[in-house]
Amino acid sequence: MLNLVLFGPPGSGKGTQSNNLIKDYHLIHLSTGDLLRNEIAEGTELGLKAKEIMAEGLLVPDKVVIGMIKKKLENNKAAKGFIFDGFPRTVAQAEALDEALTSMDAHISGMIELKVGQEELEKRLLLRGTESDRPDDADIVVIRKRINEYISKTVPVAEYYKQQGKLRSVSGMGKVEDIFDSVKELVNSL
Ligand code: AP5
Ligand code: MG
Repeated sequence: MLNLVLFGPPGSGKGTQSNNLIKDYHLIHLSTGDLLRNEIAEGTELGLKAKEIMAEGLLVPDKVVIGMIKKKLENNKAAKGFIFDGFPRTVAQAEALDEALTSMDAHISGMIELKVGQEELEKRLLLRGTESDRPDDADIVVIRKRINEYISKTVPVAEYYKQQGKLRSVSGMGKVEDIFDSVKELVNSL
């Protein structure tokens, strides 16, 4: 199995690069943000709880996202591998993911970190806010809160994988295709 973690701050291109990777590597794309937005669109109990937290730019509780990911892993046992996008976002989530994969006789092959400066992140997200219906992109205060959540709670996850020798970093600035070439090079070296 090839199991990748796509890592980086809000707006760094995790979703964009994941969509390219799944085509070339035939992996299953698991974005906890997309899964949560589906729950909101379907009006489920989980979605109702997550909606306000997401609109504020804060992380939803670990238990909720870990439960969602475990269900997806159980339902896709024959998969060639997974791309985890926007997950794990806390060390507790990373530990839970390792545990779940170990029970499937699998492991994380590597983490790809997309490095993008704050000014560019804010520019990309504000632009998307004008053309999409993601409420968390519409307000610079919320965008900055998401970036702060990333710095305080998610950055330690990179250290978690670094200690396992699995962290690979690449610049996420520039053209999407050029970044994809660099990402592929890293994936092929795993
Ligand atoms: P989530 O959906 O994961 O959002 P995010 O991390 O804030 O990141 P984005 O999806 O905005 O950015 P991205 O890195 O995927 O970049 P993208 O490719 O879209 O999470 C949303 C919320 O859900 C969280 O705030 C939290 O509340 C909750 N949540 C989710 N997972 C959770 C978890 N595990 N634990 C707890 N809570 C969780 O690109 C962004 C934009 O830039 C796009 O418009 C794109 O077209 C553009 N773009 C991409 N690449 C480039 C480029 N190279 N040049 C110019 N523009 C580009
Ligand atoms: Mg995304």
